[in-house]
Amino acid sequence: MFPRLAGLNAAYMAKQLADFNNGTRINAAMQPIASALSPADRQAMADYYAAMPVPVAAAAPAPAADSPGGLLARRGRWSKGVPACGQCHGPGGVGVGDAFPALAAQPAAYTAAQLHAWQAGTRRNDPIELMRHVAAQLSDSDIQSVADWFAAQPASLAATTTP
Ligand code: HEC
Repeated sequence: MFPRLAGLNAAYMAKQLADFNNGTRINAAMQPIASALSPADRQAMADYYAAMPVPVAAAAPAPAADSPGGLLARRGRWSKGVPACGQCHGPGGVGVGDAFPALAAQPAAYTAAQLHAWQAGTRRNDPIELMRHVAAQLSDSDIQSVADWFAAQPASLAATTTP
């Protein structure tokens, strides 16, 4: 369950490192690393990974466009008050600015683990609980499907820089 870091937004990564440190994002592997870093080290590390080239090709074939994941990603589920993931994370999950991370080309196991963490309350670092509200409406099979969907979307270099 290790994310792609290459090409992610630097400000977003620096925030995540701070969140591992302040306990709003819990992860046994990352906590000791984050707590050993000063704020300047965290920023330097985030800048380093942000500048790495991203794997542009999609890793796996995408689930069907009308699979639960394809529908959640592109249309949302308005009967449950869930907007399309792409409305916040950008079309194809390429990421938008400092606040909305890329989901494209993230390993499915990582994306699924984040959604389960929000359900379980071990991750609660999302601004105004945006992701807690989304995750609370998803079933286990929705999570698997939407995670598979984004794992299969190509990453885009253009979207990783701050607008
Ligand atoms: C209303 C806006 C909004 C919608 C809709 C939304 N997200 Fe998010 N999402 C966010 C924000 C904001 C964050 C960053 C949280 C933080 O700062 O840690 C986030 C973070 C994430 C992350 C963590 C990524 C990482 O590397 O830290 C995942 C996974 C994720 N969202 C999946 C989804 C999926 C799947 C959907 C659709 C079912 C979705 N999101 C819909 C706003 C949204």
